[in-house]
Amino acid sequence: MGSLCDWPEPVICVQSLSESGDLVIPDQYVKPPLERPILCFNNVNIPVIDLAGLVTSREAIMKQISKACREWGFFQLVNHGVRTVLVDRVPEIWREFFHEPMEVKQKYANSPKTYEGFGSRLGVEKGAILDWNDYYYLNYLPHCHTKWPSQPPSLREVMEEYSSEILRLGAVLLKIFSINLGLEEDYLQNAFGGRDIEACLRANFYPKCPQPDLTLGLSSHSDPGGMTFLLPDKQVCGLQIRKNDQWITVKPTRHAIIINIGDQLQVKFPLDPKPLNCQFVLSNAIYKSVEHRVVVNPDKERVSLAYFYNPKNDLLIQPIPELVTSKTPALYPSMTFDEYRRFIRTRGPHGKVQVDSLKPPR
Ligand code: OGA
Ligand code: NI
Repeated sequence: MGSLCDWPEPVICVQSLSESGDLVIPDQYVKPPLERPILCFNNVNIPVIDLAGLVTSREAIMKQISKACREWGFFQLVNHGVRTVLVDRVPEIWREFFHEPMEVKQKYANSPKTYEGFGSRLGVEKGAILDWNDYYYLNYLPHCHTKWPSQPPSLREVMEEYSSEILRLGAVLLKIFSINLGLEEDYLQNAFGGRDIEACLRANFYPKCPQPDLTLGLSSHSDPGGMTFLLPDKQVCGLQIRKNDQWITVKPTRHAIIINIGDQLQVKFPLDPKPLNCQFVLSNAIYKSVEHRVVVNPDKERVSLAYFYNPKNDLLIQPIPELVTSKTPALYPSMTFDEYRRFIRTRGPHGKVQVDSLKPPR
């Protein structure tokens, strides 16, 4: 396994491969046959939830959110209170960044130590099959050394405004999740570190790809943190989520923010009816971080912004003590979010083996 000091091979910017005009993608991007995308056009979509209803029909909306967290791990939020011009602006300002000249972007080239900055690779396994994307990774909270790009000039201001909206929305959702799980309304926020939560983001750029049937923009993974707020591209679909062993393409609703549950919320509720604790099925309290991936397109680039709302990185994440008994032992070892993330970062996106390969404590 590689170390997190440096990339194991020279990093190639995917956009430059795309712009080379080559009709064949390098072998390094060709996925094994079973991982290649199937373009599915089913009518199923993830739930769309109208947050404005929280005032007028609170019970119904709380129920919809509860159902979405248990059955999908993903939902789209509309009327979330974030100004629509801001929702439109955020992916576009990142598109402008990705279209800056290479010399400008290279000034922010990242390393696997923190991932901050401009990059084209996740994971440090030598010889790994790579994803067809470039990205910019930014730590926002705690406020200490945010690596802001200086171009486009208004990027920082736009992202500061958007960040404060996400922090507001994140707190609202953690309250709703806590109540839905029968906990005190501040339970999850406190478990995440109160005001000291961590917030970071990844702007994803998926260049056009001459052989989209052989590769992926982002391999199957679940998000390691608490929950994710995704702004998808307005014009181009690409996000797929796995449900009952089928891939479902998400059809974004205009101005919606897509929310998904991360591994830390699953680990906190180890109530899956797995063989280990099959006597204990508390089906009203199963939150899942669901596997998802991104497919790419032969003639359209795609931009998205994933905002990660995470627990404070040195807090021990462990199952809620009241829920662990001799009959219902903990399914996962306790570890800090930082330790968990280091483990994920070494491997890169790898389905859901991450959470599932953690061994329960003895
Ligand atoms: C991610 C992610 C989905 C997308 O960045 O973790 O899942 O649509 N992105 O780009
Ligand atoms: Ni993701």
